[in-house]
Amino acid sequence: MKIILKDCKEILTLKNAHQKDGRFLKPKDKSIEKNKSILCENGKIITIDTFSSIEKNNPDATIIDCSQFCITPELVDSHTHLVFGGNRAFEYSMRLDGATYEDIAKSGGGILHTMKQTNASSKDELFNLACERIEKIHSLGVGTIEIKSGYGLNLEKEIELSEIIHELKLKYKGTVQIFNTFMAAHAVPKEYVSSSDYMENVVLPALESLGLRKIIDSVDIFLEDGYFSEKDVIVLNQKAKGFGIPLKIHADEFINLEGASLACELNALSADHLLAISDKGIESFSKSKTVATLLPGTGYFLGKEQCDARALLDAGAKVSIASDYNPGSCHQFDLKKIACLSAPNYKMNSTETWSSITLNASSSLGLNNQGTICSNMQSRFSFWECNSLDEVLYNWDENYSVWPEQYLNYLSTL
Ligand code: NIG
Ligand code: FE
Repeated sequence: MKIILKDCKEILTLKNAHQKDGRFLKPKDKSIEKNKSILCENGKIITIDTFSSIEKNNPDATIIDCSQFCITPELVDSHTHLVFGGNRAFEYSMRLDGATYEDIAKSGGGILHTMKQTNASSKDELFNLACERIEKIHSLGVGTIEIKSGYGLNLEKEIELSEIIHELKLKYKGTVQIFNTFMAAHAVPKEYVSSSDYMENVVLPALESLGLRKIIDSVDIFLEDGYFSEKDVIVLNQKAKGFGIPLKIHADEFINLEGASLACELNALSADHLLAISDKGIESFSKSKTVATLLPGTGYFLGKEQCDARALLDAGAKVSIASDYNPGSCHQFDLKKIACLSAPNYKMNSTETWSSITLNASSSLGLNNQGTICSNMQSRFSFWECNSLDEVLYNWDENYSVWPEQYLNYLSTL
């Protein structure tokens, strides 16, 4: 099937940004086209040109009037934990009143609290809650969502959570692209004597079963004092590699364990958080394909000092921003707002900001064929009903996102 996005007000192509592999980006690397049209066929972008020159050779294409829209590569939320039961509102107040995230976790709250609430929820309840969350996120302009398991923390429930994510992927195919990350290595329940004991009895057997069924897109692990060790990362990666599944790491969030360097060494898709990253860690991204994923919503929600994004960008890291939407450390899922809010403090320019939630976010999921509007790339877009791309960044709260019906019809044929 062919479509033409006709007469787009502005198109953020990120052509130069893509050629520069998402690094050292300058404002002009946005590569904006004005009043142009985009021809797409069977999931790919064919060309960007004036409507008249596209139309004459493609009279059979479905025409989508985009004269009221600015178009960007599709927004990608590359880090969420959106399958969970219950909430942790009381912990938020406890933190405002002086408790730290780490204190709460040590006393059995935190991830282990959500584990109890998730285990008390049926598969259907968790599925329905996740659908509500996905639909809200999609309505804000995000078309690809990574979802991690990790609140079951026993063999059966972790398998169930990965199955739920797989079923969500099938349900939303043609509307939202879902990426299934296995993160049973999220916390160690009290009944296990050590993280290796839990790895051996839950994480590895669950991965064995899911890996054989080929429903996992990546694995992730919380490398942190009191959670998982470097050795656990290596064991997990070894097992995942056997199934051809790439690695992601929650790295250097509270203390620096040189998780960023380890992620780069192991060719992980991304190292995420990085609030406590070292200079060595920053440097390790400069020649690595591993994406540095920043989760500023978490820094705000926890009241922590943010990562030095400028240092990463100046070192040549590929930097992405994601929401980290979860019940404990960031109960906020508006990716565009999170990026807009953070850009001035991160000292990111407009190209770096846009790329962090499109091009580089795609790359952090290994989706290297999307995130830019150029020939041969995947035809995945976000549509913004406003006068300019500047307005999208400027109006933090305004939801300009629209999903034209004919575009969704086209996606559903792919
Ligand atoms: O990415 N850091 C580990 N995991 C989540 C927090 C999960 C929770 O608190 O429920 C995160 O911040
Ligand atoms: Fe996370």
